[in-house]
Amino acid sequence: MSDTQTSTLLTIRIVPDPVLRKTARAVTPADAAQVRALIPQMFATMYAAPGIGLAAPQVGVLLRLVVIDIAPEKTPAPLVLINPEVVAASPESATREEGCLSLPEQYAQVVRPAWVRVKYEDERGARREIEGDGLLAACLQHEIDHLNGVLFVDHLSALKRNMLLRKLAKEQKEKTSRK
Ligand code: NI
Repeated sequence: MSDTQTSTLLTIRIVPDPVLRKTARAVTPADAAQVRALIPQMFATMYAAPGIGLAAPQVGVLLRLVVIDIAPEKTPAPLVLINPEVVAASPESATREEGCLSLPEQYAQVVRPAWVRVKYEDERGARREIEGDGLLAACLQHEIDHLNGVLFVDHLSALKRNMLLRKLAKEQKEKTSRK
């Protein structure tokens, strides 16, 4: 990915940007040129943030496209998922701390299925499947949620969600006033 270095960094949308609450539409062959251009820019933006996953709506593009790399420092394994869909999930759940580039510096324990299988298309349009548990399972579900306008805070109690959103709003306001 030599073009990562020269790619323009995209602006990551922050809550309460309304684009984060919209449902993204499926990628079609007509989107090929846009998607091809977007993928290296999304990876560059994600690595720079730094983050381990980024969904197109987070950069203002309402297409069902996600990039993931859960171990960028150890063994980079960039994963591009086009039109991803959870097709199987374990009945067992797992709790992990999650954060999100669209909710900077906010973290919470989120309960989700411990294992999932996801079908998707790769960059060349080939149909593929991936399955995983642990961090990968949480990341896949978190990013696919973004394509449906769902944020990790939606998995929390209303009380916890509102506390976290108020804290975010306050911190963002302070950040803006310091500029
Ligand atoms: Ni996120």
